[in-house]
Formats: sequence, C-alpha cells, structure tokens
Amino acid sequence: MRGPSPAGPLMKEHRLIERVVALLQAELAAIDERGSANTTLIATSAEFLHTYADLCHHGKEEDILFRDLHDKPMTSEDADIMRGLTEDHKLSRRLVGTLVDANRRYANGEMAALGEIRSAASKLVELYPRHIATEDKVFFKPAMEYFTEGERAEMLREYADFDQQLIHDVYRTLVDDAEALAEADRSGD
Ligand SMILES: [Fe+2]
Ligand SMILES: [Fe+2]
Repeated sequence: MRGPSPAGPLMKEHRLIERVVALLQAELAAIDERGSANTTLIATSAEFLHTYADLCHHGKEEDILFRDLHDKPMTSEDADIMRGLTEDHKLSRRLVGTLVDANRRYANGEMAALGEIRSAASKLVELYPRHIATEDKVFFKPAMEYFTEGERAEMLREYADFDQQLIHDVYRTLVDDAEALAEADRSGD
C-alpha cells in the first residue's frame, strides 16, 4: 500500500463505535432482566451515535471518501456496496432519531415507549457490526485502489479539516437550539 491510507482513521473510529454498540447490547440484555431502561446510558449512547458515528464518521465517509469515489470508474460490485453503505447510514440516522425520541418519552413516564427503545436499539446493534465488517473487510481495500498516492494524502488533509470544523458546527447548533428553547420559554409555549 502506497503512503498512509485514508481507510486507517476510519477503521480506528470503528473501534470506538464498537465499544458503544457493546454498551447498547449489554443494556438490551439488562432491560430484559430488570424490565426497565437506563435512560442516562441510552441518551449517552444515542448522543455518541448522532455526533460521533453520524456527523463525524459517516460525515467523512460520505462527504469525502464516497464523494471522491463517485468520480472514479468503480466496478458495479463496488458501486453496489457503496450504495448499500449509504443506505445503512440513512437507516442508522432514522433509528437513532427514534431511539432519542422514545428514550425522552420513556424518561418522562411513558412506559409504553420501552418497546420502541428495545426495537430501535436492537436494530442498531444488528446494523453496526455488519456495516463495519463490510467496510473493514470488503469495501475499503478495493476502494483505496482507485486513488493515487497524492489523492490519498489530500483526502487525509480533508479529514483533518473536517474534524477541526465539526466541533464548531456542533456547538453552534447547540447554542441555536438553546436560544430557540429560551425564546419558546419566554413566549410561554
Ligand atoms: Fe459507513
Ligand atoms: Fe464506517
């Protein structure tokens, strides 16, 4: 392999995502055992999946790696895999949204939301190991072969810029949301 690979940082990020998937998996077993959910643990896991797995990790995959692959003469097999991976990202986004919403309602006393929490968390726990295995063991190797050494180096630079910008975007959104909340409070909504 020529020069550092843009697959490297993505694979390293997968290892952290796996740790949160393991936490969710253990929480699912605990829910079955005690008949209730740890809402703090689920909120933390969902926040990680939204900000780190989706915005930071899927963000670099889709906005840099997949974007650049679109310009390459990919084999139909590789293109199919990339489409499937993008669909997985969309599904994961929806499931995390459902998980956040159900967890909030459950924390507010809506006991029936526990079923939605279990269902969304189970689907995420199934999706991520399969998705990560496809990227690590099937897709990344042939994908890297489409790029020159210079293109790979440029991609790594773009990753760094992307990560650097992200924290500012995340906290600007948080402040925007907090201001909207304060405004709604003042107007008595
Ligand atoms: Fe992915
Ligand atoms: Fe990934």
